[in-house]
Amino acid sequence: MLGVYVHLPFCERKCNYCAFISFTNIQEQEENYVNHLLEEIEQSKNKYFEGKKEKIDTIYLGGGTPSIVKLENIEKILDAIKNNFYLSENNEITIECNPNSLDINKLKFYKKVGINRLSIGVQTLDDKDLKIINRLHTSEQAIDVVRQAREVGFENISVDLLIGLKNQTKENFIKQIEVLKNLGVKHFSCYMIQVENGTKLEQLYNLDKNIILNEDESVDIYEKTADFFNKSEFLRYEISNFAVKGFESKHNYKYWTGENYIGFGMAAHSYINGIRYANPKNFSQYYLGENISKEVLTKKQIIEEHIMLGFRCNNGVNIPFLNSLGYDITQNSDYKFMKEKNIIIEKNDKVYLNPNYYGVNNFIIVKLLP
Ligand SMILES: C[S@@+](CC[C@H](N)C(=O)[O-])C[C@H]1O[C@@H](n2cnc3c(N)ncnc32)[C@H](O)[C@@H]1O
Ligand code: SF4
Repeated sequence: MLGVYVHLPFCERKCNYCAFISFTNIQEQEENYVNHLLEEIEQSKNKYFEGKKEKIDTIYLGGGTPSIVKLENIEKILDAIKNNFYLSENNEITIECNPNSLDINKLKFYKKVGINRLSIGVQTLDDKDLKIINRLHTSEQAIDVVRQAREVGFENISVDLLIGLKNQTKENFIKQIEVLKNLGVKHFSCYMIQVENGTKLEQLYNLDKNIILNEDESVDIYEKTADFFNKSEFLRYEISNFAVKGFESKHNYKYWTGENYIGFGMAAHSYINGIRYANPKNFSQYYLGENISKEVLTKKQIIEEHIMLGFRCNNGVNIPFLNSLGYDITQNSDYKFMKEKNIIIEKNDKVYLNPNYYGVNNFIIVKLLP
């Protein structure tokens, strides 16, 4: 089923590692931006679906920092989506939040308007590291908001954590996960920190490589984290994502399994029946109401995308599907060897990457492409 993504490109302050499209001028832009969003949602039926209301089962309010957007605007956006799509009863509605912009009243409001999943950017529970990466909150605030969210009745709470921060060790990282898990967090996204072009972190890194851990140290923490989750009730269902069964992100799973999704807002992407659309990355162009790009994927692109995404998550790669597009992956020169060495696992009509090799997935994927 179709999923809906809404990009809310506002942040109180830019974290030094982040290259996501977001701006700090919310006061100036919020009303104007939300009005354009509402219009874009309204027009989408005609633009993509010949005037028909499509059925959806996920809504993802991402950013930026959606939790700094006025509550009345969050409600307007959700109402517009509900008016223009059929929202299935068994839905997942997520909002991305920063710990410093949440409080009990906001949480209650989110619950009231139907939001049933929180994705909280905790990043780390080490206050020194939080300062280094320019976060606005403390570890105590992060713990408090998770507690409050549970009190308000949120069952489905996900937390983002960064691997590779300067003061991290595998021991203290796993302790942080235990603290959050004991508070009732059911889903963890653990990303290895990337030094992105044009970020403050890039400047700092160029002056001092020790601002973050090196790759070997980070991979070691990632592997130990995966071992830790493996021994608990959590399942690694994608390279960076771990969840208790039933708490996997339905919305993100659509990206990894090639399902259709529609994205609203600046820089948002859509993927509808083999066509990828991308919205402009600045306010003025977005307000003009045009997609900046529309790309009909070629067979080769669909094959490559299916392999890349399938080996990143537990959905795997569908062999007959690739055959139907003209690529017999089982005839690839490295396939037999990888299968014998148990690097990839063939089961029924599918082939999966052995989770022990998730850390080096890129090397393997490249070899199995056509
Ligand atoms: C779009 S951000 C939104 C979440 C929210 N604004 C926050 O920061 O708490 C989604 C997540 O991407 C991750 N992320 C952003 N930049 C990253 C980078 N350079 N390397 C690894 N992960 C990154 C962070 O963990 C962040 O929580
Ligand atoms: S990590 Fe989140 S809060 Fe920080 S700049 Fe990126 S989107 Fe904004």
